[in-house]
Amino acid sequence: MLRLICYLSFLVISITTVYSDQEKSIYDVLKAHGLPIGLLPKGVKEFKIDETGRFEVHLDQACNAKFESELHYDMNVTGSLSYGQIGALSGISSQELFLWFPVKGIRVDVPSSGLIYFDVGVVFKQFSLSLFEMPRDCVAVRNEEIVALRHRKFIADTVAKSQPGKVGYELEQENFGRDFL
Ligand SMILES: *[C@@H]1O[C@H](CO)[C@@H](O)[C@H](O)[C@H]1NC(C)=O
Repeated sequence: MLRLICYLSFLVISITTVYSDQEKSIYDVLKAHGLPIGLLPKGVKEFKIDETGRFEVHLDQACNAKFESELHYDMNVTGSLSYGQIGALSGISSQELFLWFPVKGIRVDVPSSGLIYFDVGVVFKQFSLSLFEMPRDCVAVRNEEIVALRHRKFIADTVAKSQPGKVGYELEQENFGRDFL
């Protein structure tokens, strides 16, 4: 009898595994929209998307992933998916010279040019699409780091709002100066 129960529960587990494997993952959804799956970190299981493309992704914890620059993911990432782009994005920030800029949108060229663009408010940051081929490990950030992050994000937001175009200008100035040192 015990053996039968064991066998039956094994059967049930196998069946549910097969079924859940057939369910679409958020990575399948990204792919179906012509977007690279590495835009989200490894291991995302919880997400919702409605027929208009509005989505919500829930991570186990806020975390940072290293690309060319670093990306920060909040626990909840939301946005609106359409082919080749994500609009109304919230929950992802990109680091630029120690400042964190909220990424408001992401898009790729259709047909693909091999580039991906991040709308960080002031400018579109351009990356190679190949950076986002595979989901990356995302390292949890400690609470105090999140607070510091929020603070820096606030400063970045304020700078972006009050001086559009200024940040890019200052960066250029800085590089310009450095070339002459
Ligand atoms: C994330 O979303 C869930 C469900 O919508 C909500 O209960 C939770 O408070 C959110 N967490 C944060 C940190 O915003």
